[in-house]
Amino acid sequence: MLSCFYIRLRFSPLLLLSLIYSRVQNSLHYFTLTMDGIFACIISSLLVLFSLIYLLLPKRNRRPQNQTSAKLPPGSMGWPYIGQTFQFYSQDPNIFFSSKQKRFGEIFKTNILGCRCVMLTSPEAARFVLVTQAHLFKPTYPKSKELLIGPYALFFHQGDYHMSLRKLVQRSLSFDVLRNLVPDIEALALYSFKSWGHGHVINTYREMKRVFSFEVGILSNFGHIEARLKDELKKNYWIVNTGYNSFPSSIPGTQYKKALLARKRIGKILSEIICERKEKKLVGRDLLSCLMNWKGEKGEILSDDQIADNIIGVLFAAQDTTATVMTWIVKYLHNEPKFLESVKAEQKAIEKSNEGNLPLSWTQTRNMPITYKVVLESLRMASIISFPFREAVADVEYKGFLIPKGWKAMPLFRNIHYNPEYFPEPKKFNPSRFEVAPKPNTFMPFGSGVHSCPGN
Ligand code: HEM
Repeated sequence: MLSCFYIRLRFSPLLLLSLIYSRVQNSLHYFTLTMDGIFACIISSLLVLFSLIYLLLPKRNRRPQNQTSAKLPPGSMGWPYIGQTFQFYSQDPNIFFSSKQKRFGEIFKTNILGCRCVMLTSPEAARFVLVTQAHLFKPTYPKSKELLIGPYALFFHQGDYHMSLRKLVQRSLSFDVLRNLVPDIEALALYSFKSWGHGHVINTYREMKRVFSFEVGILSNFGHIEARLKDELKKNYWIVNTGYNSFPSSIPGTQYKKALLARKRIGKILSEIICERKEKKLVGRDLLSCLMNWKGEKGEILSDDQIADNIIGVLFAAQDTTATVMTWIVKYLHNEPKFLESVKAEQKAIEKSNEGNLPLSWTQTRNMPITYKVVLESLRMASIISFPFREAVADVEYKGFLIPKGWKAMPLFRNIHYNPEYFPEPKKFNPSRFEVAPKPNTFMPFGSGVHSCPGN
């Protein structure tokens, strides 16, 4: 009975937190509307109530059992349960983390999004968590997101299953395969440019995402597929995409529930595509073919669910990230006309050498030194994955500090990318800094270790 009560007490603040979190994420406008009046009242009363409950709970229920002599790192955990989530969302993330680093040093604790976290801001610590002691830190994602992507997607796993799938994704993105996609990708880019050229205002991020990165994702996952199936996939994918950051509720009509239903329909469309390929014995070099043709050492094959989850997983991993970085590139170049001119000159020279009508070649894509440095500097400045989520599977000691079992351990790529010791004048957009290779483990836009990005 008591433990039941305890579980309920612990569960409710998490619900509250998720609710607040989804409000903040979904719409600032909605948030301001609801924050005045009743909602604000309820929140403040609940905060007081939960603080009292927290203070009254026996201490051993709140602290992890420490089997080593190491201490928790310095830092502030903020309000009970709510932690520092409000500060995290109301500030520029650069400022939130860098002010903590200044105050507490390169390892500090905090509590955000309902998670107790140890944040690590040095390249050595990132290597420790992601590479040398990676077995002590498992990747974690909220259950609601795992359900939408599908539990078999590679990034939720470790060990043999993860490695086998990772190899398949890497194979579908090998140079040999990508080389053949260049003309199609170029055609998609030209098509996008044309649709922008009528003097109307466009939303850069949306265009990058819907028109460009989604289409490229479909191409590399399926090759060329029937227009009807592509449209169906697209329609349902956007419903899932919209529901991904909404409050997870299975009440009919909510965005999350709609997303779950759309995810089911995607599964059916993928089964149809798989069936057709099997019937027609179609073999390609795209991700779907790699997954369908995989055979384990004992002859095992992947189920349709495993295939679907990984297709959706890779689409998700590829799409937002790519569209975001392309949007930042546009912004940085807009702010820095000098670099914009250099990039334009480099691209025009290539166009000229192709006499204005030959398609871009693979060799040409590998030889764009100015554009390449602009991309690298944009990846550093934007640091679109600020930190990867990992959870300690045991009590871990690092540099005399304890990372307790069950706590998140997050290497802060963003802080490393903005450390003047590794990148002088870090706030300045300066692609020439990449004329010299960055020091090891200081530039990690694609992560590091066994879960690093295969789309790198
Ligand atoms: C600029 C674009 C991209 C950025 C900045 C980026 C960044 C990242 C990062 C930081 C991780 C590691 C996450 C972690 O350690 O938990 C990752 C993982 C991953 N990325 Fe990317 N990514 C990008 C594009 C892509 C593309 C184009 C694809 C596929 C075509 C892709 C597929 C994946 C997959 C499947 C994983 C999980 C790998 C695993 O768990 O083994 N990403 N990405």
